[in-house]
Amino acid sequence: MKILITGGAGFIGSHIVRLFANKYPSYQILTLDALTYAGNLENLADVLALPNHRFIKGDITDGVFISALFAAEAPDAVIHLAAESHVDRSIEDPLTFVHTNVLGTVHLLRAARALWQNPNDGTYAAAGRNLFYHVSTDEVYGSLPLEVPPDSSSKFTESSPYAPHSPYSASKAAADHFVRAWAATYDLPVKISNCSNNYGPYQFPEKLIPLALDRLRRGLKVPVYGTGKNVRDWLYVGDHADAVDVVFHEGREGETYNIGGGEEWANLELVKVLCGVFDEVVGARAGGSEVVVDVEGRIEFVEDRKGHDLRYAVDCGKIRGELGWSPKVGFREGLKKTVEWYVANEGWPERVTSGEYKEYYERQYGVRG
Ligand code: NAD
Ligand code: DAU
Repeated sequence: MKILITGGAGFIGSHIVRLFANKYPSYQILTLDALTYAGNLENLADVLALPNHRFIKGDITDGVFISALFAAEAPDAVIHLAAESHVDRSIEDPLTFVHTNVLGTVHLLRAARALWQNPNDGTYAAAGRNLFYHVSTDEVYGSLPLEVPPDSSSKFTESSPYAPHSPYSASKAAADHFVRAWAATYDLPVKISNCSNNYGPYQFPEKLIPLALDRLRRGLKVPVYGTGKNVRDWLYVGDHADAVDVVFHEGREGETYNIGGGEEWANLELVKVLCGVFDEVVGARAGGSEVVVDVEGRIEFVEDRKGHDLRYAVDCGKIRGELGWSPKVGFREGLKKTVEWYVANEGWPERVTSGEYKEYYERQYGVRG
């Protein structure tokens, strides 16, 4: 089995590449990544030398390149993660998101069909082996009200209507629709999963948790948008990689599976807990017996995100019931692992932040110390 994993040098992609390359030594794993500001080969340092893994630098928005790549490499299956992934950037620069997330996905769909489908009878030669798997987001469902009903029934299910709000989520929703269109129109074998907020090692320091850790480390305040009451449903990235493995191998073709951590946290509360875990980890490393948690002084409320979705919460009943997946890493345990990784790898944020990111960062948060 040869699997093309797009976006494998990014945060979630690198965890999926690492899992698949190590767990399935008989598979050939091809990582395709353009190494944008968010992708970095350092994220795959331990995987690059594995005999069943190869890295290819390339851009999914280049249709000619993608067609040639599929013809030359003939992958059996695709796990597609390459995307522009940061909501704030999509508000600044929506076109790049349309280009990468929509057009790039369509180029991949066209190439997969051209490779896999017999043009004479429309059959797929390697039925059961060919698969186009789109790794998508819960943000396609829009926003839930902050007030949670007592029965907790207000969560995103696979049948929730699509109602994306940001240019990012609209582009991911469009990509999902194109994947379904290729299944309905050309019988392409597809699967989609829609996941909640991930956190863990190798997450680019523009997303809330790694940004906060980077700033705490440098003695700067953590920016909290608006009131800090917006809620996200957090999942440790290793649990997401396990879910993708399960859906890829055991999920039903043509189906969508929601994935989430069931850990709903208001941003302000999350940042407070994070400050506490940060102090514990740093204090323990310094050999200090006393942990000083000064939280309030380390947070600053800043202007809200435009169109800021209030609450995400994912109902994982389908993947749990059908495929037996559930998260293994508890929230505090996951946060501790994450903080330990960022503290032990304190040079990583510096190394992965390119000049381009520095410009963006300085526009958002002022000069980087
Ligand atoms: P990321 O930004 O860390 O990584 C994206 C990767 O895609 C980078 O390595 C980048 O170089 C690559 N890429 C971007 N444009 C490309 C192009 N034109 N051609 C080839 N490669 C390109 O993102 P992430 O957080 O790891 O998210 C990965 C996927 O998972 C995305 O599709 C995202 O929508 C989805 N997702 C993310 C989350 C989350 O919480 N981060 C949750 C659910 C779904
Ligand atoms: O829900 C899944 C999505 O989660 C993924 O599809 C996206 O790729 C991923 O980026 C993430 O989107 P969010 O916008 O929820 O993540 P982010 O880390 O940017 O923000 C999390 C919350 O924290 C959100 O409510 C905005 C807020 N926030 C964010 C930043 C960067 C702050 O309050 N301050 C900040 O500095």
